Amino acid sequence: MLAAVACGGAPQRSGDVALYLDESQPLEKRVADALARMTLEEKVALLHAQSKFSSAGVPRLGIPEVWCTDGPHGIRPEVLWDEWDQAGWTNDSCTAFPALTCLAATWNPEMSALYGRSIGEEARYRGKDVLLGPGVNIYRTPLNGRNFEYMGEDPYLSSRMVVPYVQGVQQNGVAACVKHFAVNNQEVQRHKVDVVLDDRALNEIYLPAFRAAVQQGGAWAIMGAYNKYKGEHCCHNRYLLNDILKRNWGFDGVVISDWGGVHDTREAIFNGLDMEFGTWTDGLNWGATNAYDNYYLARPYLELLRKGEVGTEELDDKASRVLRLIFRTSMNSRKPFGSLCSPEHNAAARRIAGEGMVLLRNEGGVLPVDLSKVKTIAVVGENAVKMMTVGGGSSSLKVKHECTPLEGIRAAVGDRAGVIYERGYVGDVTGDYNGVVTGQDLSEKRSARALIDDAVAAARRADAVIFIGGLNKSDHQDSEGADRLQLGLPYGQDEVIEALAAANSNLAVVLVSGNAVAMPWVERVPAVLQAWYSGSEAGNALADVVFGAVNPSGKLPFTFPARLEDCGAHAAGEYPGDGERVVYRDGIFVGYRWAEKENIKPLFAFGHGLSYTTFAYGGVESDRTSLTASGKLRVRVDVTNTGSREGAEAVQLYIGDEESSLPRPVKELKGFEKVRLAPGETRTVTFDITPDMLGYYDDAKGAWVVEPGEFTAYVGAASDDIRGRVVFTLK
Ligand code: GLC
Repeated sequence: MLAAVACGGAPQRSGDVALYLDESQPLEKRVADALARMTLEEKVALLHAQSKFSSAGVPRLGIPEVWCTDGPHGIRPEVLWDEWDQAGWTNDSCTAFPALTCLAATWNPEMSALYGRSIGEEARYRGKDVLLGPGVNIYRTPLNGRNFEYMGEDPYLSSRMVVPYVQGVQQNGVAACVKHFAVNNQEVQRHKVDVVLDDRALNEIYLPAFRAAVQQGGAWAIMGAYNKYKGEHCCHNRYLLNDILKRNWGFDGVVISDWGGVHDTREAIFNGLDMEFGTWTDGLNWGATNAYDNYYLARPYLELLRKGEVGTEELDDKASRVLRLIFRTSMNSRKPFGSLCSPEHNAAARRIAGEGMVLLRNEGGVLPVDLSKVKTIAVVGENAVKMMTVGGGSSSLKVKHECTPLEGIRAAVGDRAGVIYERGYVGDVTGDYNGVVTGQDLSEKRSARALIDDAVAAARRADAVIFIGGLNKSDHQDSEGADRLQLGLPYGQDEVIEALAAANSNLAVVLVSGNAVAMPWVERVPAVLQAWYSGSEAGNALADVVFGAVNPSGKLPFTFPARLEDCGAHAAGEYPGDGERVVYRDGIFVGYRWAEKENIKPLFAFGHGLSYTTFAYGGVESDRTSLTASGKLRVRVDVTNTGSREGAEAVQLYIGDEESSLPRPVKELKGFEKVRLAPGETRTVTFDITPDMLGYYDDAKGAWVVEPGEFTAYVGAASDDIRGRVVFTLK
């Protein structure tokens, strides 16, 4: 017999089990029944951590605890109950999938679905209920240390790519926890900086991907950001969480704080927070037994409830949301069992990586390297050998294996050519990331000069030279907690690249990074490939592209500016602010929106990416020249593979509003479709334009508005490579 109900209605039963345990019952009835059985203490216990990554269930009712895990690219190794240190398990190595910039660069929602399903299977197999990812913060400055965890500068691309990822994770009975909500676009002073921006930028640029994740993806969890917005910390922010997320968007999941993102009990109670993790309690944060009782939503909340200073309305809403999460995840008996480090996951990592790499430049067909014509290949650069699945902060992983670029190249070349390696420069020799030890000895005794000389000597002996550099996951590179300090490559790489270019014109530069970098040498380097952080199969995926097994089809998810001051965030946006607040004066003009407004030519444009084949676009036509409020206008274009090998092209649709009451970008991405074509094959690509795609957010009215008038639909291979356009009028 169940214990007498301590508060609320009589326990309901259906057959011989309590209703909340009966999965045939509607979710909301189960939630209500379980809530009615819970005591005040039990409800409060649901709302905060009990360990580094878990929160309590209701043992008396057989309701299990909730286990969270990082991160967006793979399942973090187990840490001790109440420490960041490694638990030292030997069965928690994972598959590292490519970083989310690489996923976004595929411009292929099918890759997102594959990614979400695969990483969800690994989370499920590891017994986790909440995956703390994906991140969809907009790429506003090339200096943001965490851009590699996100999906680029455009809200439409991020929106299309986040939805299948969320759905893929959640079909495993694991909640995606989309982060960091919201406007967390820099690491400088991330815990306290108050971000000031107008409602247009908030709604048109920074919120859409979160809204898509919730309303189309059905995300079961959202993580609040560390920073403030409108003077309130985002983890308990009335406007963002109560008004926009829960009321306007109808979000029925849980808002989880970032770790240490909660700062006030009353704000946490009334401003929309549901679960508190990682709080730095009053000096008791290092493993003291009662540290968790000191959480803002723990004893302090309980005391306010017991004294009647606060009601139970917010408590019941929070507890209901946590119960809903539990029934969707840990108490969902129909969920699959998942898998870990399976060959399928390796194959998925390799496929996504290969499809996400972006061929930025390829003069004279330097790539792909033809192994029937080269005898010696010189590979130069630290990033050819340095493990990149570790580091970078909370997305750091302990992998079952990582194939480095040099290993992948050697495996692909076999005995068909000689491969010589030279370090070229020394970057970061760290081998231990929060207890995950790479086992690599990257120590180096040669001077910088000797390293360059040795690299040049190798280049002179080689038929083909592949420089593999970029950034890495150490502080002030692509890493959480700090931003980069420059747009240019670190560690003197530019000098190495210049020397190699002078020594051998058959040079390809491969950039392993999660951010744009300056390329002062670009005119002297015939081939440049953006390879991203591409996970456990990085080397094999790179070799697939470099030697032509895979025809690159990635497109940039963010602009590569020639200079920092070519970015709105730096020219007008006051990045990084004064330490207390940062004003996004660039407003909606982020990325290519800024470049096109200011007529600035980027180094490489948003949406840019070459192929080993060529594509011809036929005329861009529309089925009508005017669109009514309830109508649809169809734009079509024939795309032909005019080259000699199969390839894929992400055909892009941008729309520009030629007459608007408020300033708008020249054009904005409103559609894309990736088509894979055999040599000589032609495919008709169509885009349906409806009025809702044409609106902008009017912050004076606090609403989206669609104004009649003239619009231009642009179709192209990149934002700066428009192949045709049609003008139409919205009636
Ligand atoms: C970190 C990150 C967040 C991560 C969490 C748990 O500080 O901001 O993305 O999921 O804490 O590690």
